[in-house]
Amino acid sequence: MLEHFKKLSYAYNSYTGELDNGLVVERRLSQLKGCFANESAYDQALANEDSLLYKVTAIEPAHGEGDLHYGMGILYPGKIGNEYYLTKGHLHRTRQAAEIYIGLSGDGCMLLEDEQTGESRLEYLGKNKIVYVPGYTAHRTINIGTEPLTYFGVYPANAGHDYGAIAQRNFLKILVDENGQPTLKDRR
Ligand code: F6R
Ligand code: ZN
Repeated sequence: MLEHFKKLSYAYNSYTGELDNGLVVERRLSQLKGCFANESAYDQALANEDSLLYKVTAIEPAHGEGDLHYGMGILYPGKIGNEYYLTKGHLHRTRQAAEIYIGLSGDGCMLLEDEQTGESRLEYLGKNKIVYVPGYTAHRTINIGTEPLTYFGVYPANAGHDYGAIAQRNFLKILVDENGQPTLKDRR
């Protein structure tokens, strides 16, 4: 098996979210249409600037069953209206595939939503914190702080991403700043 892997160790930076040799994907505000509850605040922010919200660097060797994929994310601080910057969020294409997130720097949360029951959970994600995302669970990362939030994620190589299913029905809850406090509310 070793012969299949060109490289087995990588340097990373907890503060910049950089991970050597990975494939970098950038997500800007224009790519998150429909994610934020306050549409007029979204349109206004976008008219002003198509800001970079987050970057993900993935390492996906995918040689076979039992393999792992992993990646590092950096989600910048900011808000649209009173809703914190967030990632698009997804389910795994292989629904039973779970994932481990490890917080590296900054202050954030993971919004988890059971695809079948719609049950939501909010888990803190920051330095020295691990969040387990079970299978069949839509997951989204949210920056509730003033610094970039960086994290590492590891998932089965066959997990895949399904953005469509959750985009269509949208997460049932939103996380907003209410008098300086992150507050989970129903999306109306
Ligand atoms: C991989 C995973 C993370 C996310 C990253 C960006 O399964 O969950 O690496 O890909 O947090 O979020 P999305 O992919 O929802 O734009
Ligand atoms: Zn995932």
